[in-house]
Amino acid sequence: MEGAIIHGGEGLPDIVVRPERGILVRPERIEDVEFGTLFTPNMFRMRWTDGHWHDARIEPVQELRLHPGATVLHYAQSVFEGMKAYRQKGGDIVLFRPEMNIVRMGVSARRLQMPQVPEDFFMKALRALVQAEVDQIPELPGTLYIRPTLLGTAPQVKVAASREYLFYILTLVSGPYFRGTSGRDPGAVCVFVAEDRSRAGWGGTGGVKAGANYAGTLEITAKARDLKCGQVLFLEARGAPLRERRVEEMGGMNVFFVRDGALYTPAMHGTILPGVTRDSLLTIARAEGIPVHEMDIPFGWVEDGLKDGSITETFACGTAAVVTGIGSFHFENGSELRPSAATPGPLTQRLFHRICGIQFGDLPDEFGWLRKVC
Ligand SMILES: Cc1ncc(COP(=O)(O)O)c(C=O)c1O
Repeated sequence: MEGAIIHGGEGLPDIVVRPERGILVRPERIEDVEFGTLFTPNMFRMRWTDGHWHDARIEPVQELRLHPGATVLHYAQSVFEGMKAYRQKGGDIVLFRPEMNIVRMGVSARRLQMPQVPEDFFMKALRALVQAEVDQIPELPGTLYIRPTLLGTAPQVKVAASREYLFYILTLVSGPYFRGTSGRDPGAVCVFVAEDRSRAGWGGTGGVKAGANYAGTLEITAKARDLKCGQVLFLEARGAPLRERRVEEMGGMNVFFVRDGALYTPAMHGTILPGVTRDSLLTIARAEGIPVHEMDIPFGWVEDGLKDGSITETFACGTAAVVTGIGSFHFENGSELRPSAATPGPLTQRLFHRICGIQFGDLPDEFGWLRKVC
């Protein structure tokens, strides 16, 4: 593919493909790789100026040249996505529901007054980059994590949308999201309940993947980590007693509860991210005849269910961590609550194996979710 040109389409730039070959970053033991740190050698990049996209390239990863007054640096005009390419047993490389990430990135961009990356073109760029990095893609439980990013780059110290943008895609060799887990089963994490911090408010940007949503969670995430908790559970941003506030999501994952054999997850009101994994698990569960409820879940409902044993399992889900059992909920005052079944519980395990089975090709792609890259 070296030196190849991919036709971009009407009004779009051709993609010049000039990757660096011969550097294999893929490690021997994928379980030892710290998630999010092992970048592959090449990236896709493209610029927006004068109202159109141009200069599309796949080339070695290099540092960005940004004016220190760039919009993204002052006003956080930045959105991103997170998806994966999987190496299946038979050797095929597939993407999982990439259209959902592409559409979600468009929604995120619109919310932050940024230009759209046309969907077909986005797909071409993804395919070309994954093909360029194909040798880097590990086998199960490893994946190639894909990080499309869009930044406002024009220098201007005033609160206004940038006139220039940079769109790029990075890929990373990835193993299990949580340290000490194998990636071959759901594993378990403990979760810290955020009592005095929230990540999103009504009418805010919680429902899109804006970089700024995450910066505000770092302080409480560090506190959670000191307590050995791998994730933070965020509640509705409202000055009401804890029991009355709705459960929203984790810092980077959606949340589910199992009660009396049914699956419950918070309904979406624009304050939580519409997760691809969340949607996929709901679809699988419905197809398997498991009752599912997307509804407002006051924290009191969770507390009572954990105390009286009716909530048997809870788990978090997302592209990076797939499906991970929640073993315990920890509170500011040092108390903790646990689901009544051992974590990960049976339904958590069943859903984990079903979605991974589809992604890695051990189970049929019944819902038509996979897109073969090569
Ligand atoms: C805040 C938040 N919630 C949920 C998710 C899970 O979304 P998905 O399943 O699309 O990865 C993510 C990850 O992208 C996230 O950042």
